[in-house]
Amino acid sequence: MQIGSWRTARQGAQALIALGALLFCSHAGAADTQKAKWWTNAVIYEIYPRSFQDSNGDGVGDLNGIEHRLAYLEKLGVDAIWIAPMYPSPQVDFGYDISDYDNVDPQYGTLADFDRLLASARAHHIKILLDMVLNHTSDKHRWFLAAASSREDAKHDFYVWNNGRAGSTPPAPPNNWESFFGGSAWTFVPAVQQFYYHKFYRQQPDLNWRNPAVERAMFDAMRFWLDRGVAGFRLDAITTLFEDPELRDEPVVGGTNAYGDPVLNDIYTSDMPEVHDVIKRMRSMVDRYPDSRVLIGETYLQNTAALDQWYGGANHNELQLPMDTQIGFATKLDAAVIRRQLQELETGIHGSQPLLVFDNHDNPRSIDRFGDGAHDMEIAKLIAALLLTPRDAALLYQGEEIGQRTAPPKRIEDVKDPIGRSGWPKEKGRDGERTPMQWDLSNAQAGFSTDAKTWLPVTPSYRAINVESEWADPDSLLNWHKKLIDLRRQAVAHGAHTVFLDERNPRVLSYARVDSDGKALIVVLNISAQPQTVSLDLNAAGVRHGQLSTVLASPVSMHRPSDEKKLQLAPYGCWIGTR
Ligand code: NOJ
Repeated sequence: MQIGSWRTARQGAQALIALGALLFCSHAGAADTQKAKWWTNAVIYEIYPRSFQDSNGDGVGDLNGIEHRLAYLEKLGVDAIWIAPMYPSPQVDFGYDISDYDNVDPQYGTLADFDRLLASARAHHIKILLDMVLNHTSDKHRWFLAAASSREDAKHDFYVWNNGRAGSTPPAPPNNWESFFGGSAWTFVPAVQQFYYHKFYRQQPDLNWRNPAVERAMFDAMRFWLDRGVAGFRLDAITTLFEDPELRDEPVVGGTNAYGDPVLNDIYTSDMPEVHDVIKRMRSMVDRYPDSRVLIGETYLQNTAALDQWYGGANHNELQLPMDTQIGFATKLDAAVIRRQLQELETGIHGSQPLLVFDNHDNPRSIDRFGDGAHDMEIAKLIAALLLTPRDAALLYQGEEIGQRTAPPKRIEDVKDPIGRSGWPKEKGRDGERTPMQWDLSNAQAGFSTDAKTWLPVTPSYRAINVESEWADPDSLLNWHKKLIDLRRQAVAHGAHTVFLDERNPRVLSYARVDSDGKALIVVLNISAQPQTVSLDLNAAGVRHGQLSTVLASPVSMHRPSDEKKLQLAPYGCWIGTR
């Protein structure tokens, strides 16, 4: 499916989810074998390094800044950080255009800074995951510069080239494929009289994964960092490594996207079956390292059956953690749909470990996507409970834990993300979800930087929404996240199976997680703007009412429900109990 923007990507995927085939497979014992692995129920925190913490006063975040905030991350309770690309890059796509895979961009620091960060993180019990961009390099990478200089160059076949449509003057691209960021996916290079293919910006030429030398070079790049001690990778755009060798036109769906291009169904440039062989070999390579290194996939998929393939199905030999974006990037929060999707994760992925996510640096923040303007804080708390109480590993994006808001640029002149300029005003780009982290009230940059001119503006909302003020408020969203993270460690053993309660309730999602030691966690979430009363039947979970005690509730007034059997839930209210 060709999608015009990250926003419509979410909407398109959701429509397909609704239609998606449900494939239920038997629950294998893989959860048991995975118990020992550190990542099984990990909380993984995404850091967008430009916007996390500036340590040298240039208005851009850096590695030493991350080191400075490790104590915060440890207190919050995260197990690992995923750092978005910090390699040398012309920064057209803010690091997702890498020009050297074996170094650190000088604006973020040095390799020595990276090694120190790794050591400090270890002391704070935090693992480091890097973002690995395998689909494309920067057009300034030495491989591409060589490849584009001559058809005879040894690196020419590192990229995807084509002579264009036969007999066409001036030269025309070979087919209708479009860049995800607008325009044709083919750019002509006069020096070689050929077009190269790029799924993203033209400054991001796609690597040719049909060339075995590409695989060797990219696995070497991964080993460079694994040897230094990183705990694994988040694999960028991993579903798009291969394209149709016949270069068939993609079907036209109808309508135009934010860039004015016809909307296509990208069946020939995404999710081609060949990618799975690469992933299996990558997994074997990574598994040769000690300490359970992990592969996380950027996998926006249409249904749970497709997700299961990225785990390697019953063989469990591909990614350990492909992202499940079906709940977090749906167009709305719907109790029945979420229940069905959580049920599928219990039965439809061969016992693999789910990874849920609601926020990242590519999408408007969940508080703004799901917020209704009247109950935003309650909705943010409910989202945190949905992320942190099921049997999943959880991805948190910096600022999500404090309720940082999306702040898109108001004028095209201020836009930094190139798609925000080419797609304006329909697509304002991703600056809004990338504004600097709001730490404290120490200066007008919310403690992010000492430079008054930060690369993206700090939003004025920092006065109310910031880490320091929220630590001081026991009812803050930040403390809610911390309590949920503590709870997920203590309440039940990981792998505790899920029993869905009150299954026909269209507005209230409730489930119990019960472990073999008899510990139980009961979660009741009102996913509606109306108050709800729920009669909990805990028989299915083998729990008796008198045994329950409330551990967390939102709003706090719910802390002492008059009757645990008949729970009165406020709009978007949450009640969490344990035995
Ligand atoms: C996904 C990344 O998250 C996004 O920021 C980037 O623009 C594209 N992949 C291309 O690398």
